[in-house]
Amino acid sequence: MAHSKISEGIKIPEHIAVIMDGNGRWAQSRMMPRMMGHKQGFSRMIELIEYSFKRGVKCVTVYALSTENLKRPKEEIEGLFNLIRTRFGELADRFIKHNSRIRVVGDLSLLPSDVREVLLDAEKRSEHLTEFTLNVALAYGGRAELVRAVNLAVEKGEKVTEEGLSKLLYTDGVPDPDLLIRTGKEKRLSNFLLYQSAYSELYFSDKMFPDFTAKDLDLAIEEYSSRVRRFGKTDEQKTQEKQER
Ligand code: FPP
Repeated sequence: MAHSKISEGIKIPEHIAVIMDGNGRWAQSRMMPRMMGHKQGFSRMIELIEYSFKRGVKCVTVYALSTENLKRPKEEIEGLFNLIRTRFGELADRFIKHNSRIRVVGDLSLLPSDVREVLLDAEKRSEHLTEFTLNVALAYGGRAELVRAVNLAVEKGEKVTEEGLSKLLYTDGVPDPDLLIRTGKEKRLSNFLLYQSAYSELYFSDKMFPDFTAKDLDLAIEEYSSRVRRFGKTDEQKTQEKQER
């Protein structure tokens, strides 16, 4: 289970997960092609991850492309792949400077080989870094991730436990998300981190992702900080646990 740290009286989540929804609508409402929304979204994503890092968050997982998104018109998917081809290396350089590890969570075999190479290169260059973890979910689906994990256990002839199953997920090595944010008005998980988000605090913003600023992220963190996380226990039990610490 994750442990939030306290900074200036605010409880900082150790792991934040973000469903970056609303890029297309952001662009369309400005009479721009949808791809402009994804480009703006890419820049916003970098800004928000850097801000999280500065605030003391240890891990961010961003939902960049679901397995379902792969069924979008070829032009849009190619546009997203081009963003990876042209800007992911620079993103990796930036985070490597912060001693951050970059990991791709999802089924890389579903991506074109040159895109896969760019992603694997970033993973390889940063695999020894421990200050911060950036998980980029690409060609990701929560159910598919669970099915894969169960099949891995079956192949090993292992009976799974909750902890054992966690270790077989793409996100192995980082705590479950404390705070899960979705922008873009919708209020659903859309197959994101289904197992890992069992006790995550959920935060929904009506803002489209390119409009979601560091200030908005602060509001989400403040809201998280004010919530009482009981993990299924009673208030009295949680107070007692605090006193015993
Ligand atoms: C959902 O908004 C967003 C996506 C499918 C792509 C998210 C991608 C980025 C923020 C930047 C790209 C990042 C990488 C690493 C490639 P939507 O397009 O469904 O918006 P809509 O609901 O308004 O149509």
